[in-house]
Order: sequence, then structure tokens, then C-alpha cells
Amino acid sequence: MHSRPRPAWAAADIPLNRPSLARMYDYYLGGNHNFEVDRRAAEEAIAFYPDIPNMMRANRAFLRRTVEYAARQGIDQFLDLGSGIPTVGHVHEIVRRVQPGARVVYVDFDPITIAHSAPLLAGDPRTVAIEEDIRNSAAILTHPEVRARLDFARPIAVLFLLVLHSILDDAEALRTVRAYKQAMAPGSYLLLSHATLGDTGLELPPPDTSVGRLASLMHFRSYDAITPYFEGLTLEEPGLVALPRWHPEGLDDLFYDEPDRAMAFGGVAKKPAVPARG
Ligand SMILES: C[S@@+](CC[C@H](N)C(=O)[O-])C[C@H]1O[C@@H](n2cnc3c(N)ncnc32)[C@H](O)[C@@H]1O
Repeated sequence: MHSRPRPAWAAADIPLNRPSLARMYDYYLGGNHNFEVDRRAAEEAIAFYPDIPNMMRANRAFLRRTVEYAARQGIDQFLDLGSGIPTVGHVHEIVRRVQPGARVVYVDFDPITIAHSAPLLAGDPRTVAIEEDIRNSAAILTHPEVRARLDFARPIAVLFLLVLHSILDDAEALRTVRAYKQAMAPGSYLLLSHATLGDTGLELPPPDTSVGRLASLMHFRSYDAITPYFEGLTLEEPGLVALPRWHPEGLDDLFYDEPDRAMAFGGVAKKPAVPARG
């Protein structure tokens, strides 16, 4: 049990005595939306694989670079699928440095993230967090709160950042991405990162351990299995790469010299006026 009083951002109906993956992620990122129980579970995972916090930060740096990139191309509406808790440099904060009037819809199926989001986004009518499974594309694409903020007749950015590993079935993951690609207007962007074991040689922990149970909920995909998510779109330079290789900013970037340690590939692709082949 946590001993401190419940903070204002933690709505009354969310349990604080079980670890939450979303709050563990917040802890890895150095955020303060987590509790003792989350920190303990996160430290167990770190003991197995010490790179975890830096992997998450490398993904978050990729998020920042790709969102800035899309905003600089003129995109002012973002659909963030599997968004987590909107803290530690989230999409609406990043994009508004470039597009002050931007609209952002966050979607996550974990009620904890939505409960934590509500107070953080309160008073900002151009952002909203929706509790929904991203596989339910029809429900999301027709949701009144989504339609009130996003105009699918205009270019949009759709984000799948470190989320597709949780859709274990390959065909279902592909089907999910395809549904949103179809809904995007020409000139829209897909921003995608995906967990991989790549060439790291890392073995997953035994499934009868607590860390192993978490790992069994993730499908690490190979480069070739991630490529098809971009079908029908045109990949922007430098294509699908290890995250630190996507528009690096300098030698101080995390894993600049060892990009494979980020254990994720990512890319940005644009929907052409005429569907691309492949
Ligand atoms: C590792 S976090 C990534 C957060 C953020 N996208 C980022 O890159 O920083 C993955 C998030 O995806 C959510 N998620 C996983 N599967 C989902 C699904 N099928 N529908 C909606 N959200 C999902 C989890 O609840 C979690 O908050």
C-alpha cells in the first residue's frame, strides 16, 4: 500500500496498490506520476535489464523529434494512439511550440492513463484523452470527442509510438494500422516506433518470473515484420531505422554510437495523393 495521501491527479477510482505499466513507464522517464508499488516493479525490470529507462527515453526523444518534424511540415492535428500518461514532454506541449493552435487527441485503453490525463488536460478544449482500445478503429474514428477536434478531410499525424508490440497477433496489428491509414487524408503522416530484439542477442526472462510475465505481453518484431506497417505510404528520409538514427541531433543523443541499444525501430511516412506501391 502507498502511505502518502492520494494526489489530486490520481482520480479516486484508480487502484494505487498494484503496479501499472503506464506509471512504470512514467517512472522510467523520470516523471512523478507513479507510486512506490510502480517504482518497485520498475526496479525489478531494471535489475534484469539496466538499459530499460534509457530505451524508454530514446523512444521519447524519437517522439519529440518526429512530432516537431510533422508540425514543421504544417500538421496541426495529432491522433496519439496508445499515448500513456500525458506527462514528461507529451505531444500537445511539443507541437504547440511550432503550431500554437494544434489539436491533439490521446487514446489509451488503460483507464489509469485516462484518469491521470483528465486533470492534466482540463481547461484545454483542443486536447482530450479517450479510453478505447486502438484496435476499435471505427469507434475511435467516429467518436464525437474525436470528430469535434480532428478533421479527417485535412492532413493529420497519426502516432503509433511503442504500442504495437502489445497487439500480439501480426495480422491484427497490420489491420489496425491499415484502418487509420485509410482514414488519413493525402499529405498526412504516420509516426511509428516498434520494440525489437534486433541483433542484440538478448534473451527474454523466464515466463514464470514477474519480469517474464510482463515480457510475455509484448511482441518484439523484426525489421522485416515492421516494414509492412508503412505500405502505401512514402517513407521520409532516412527510412525505417533504429530510433537514435532518425534525424539525430548530436553526439549527446542517447545511444548515438550504439543505436541498437534503443531496441526499437521507427520511421515517419507520408500519405501520397496517389497511393504508393509496395
Ligand atoms: C510504452 S507506452 C507508450 C506511450 C507513448 N506512446 C510513448 O511512445 O511515449 C504504451 C501505451 O500503450 C497503451 N496500449 C497498449 N495497447 C493498447 C491498445 N490495444 N489500445 C490502446 N492503448 C494501448 C498502454 O496502455 C500504454 O499506455
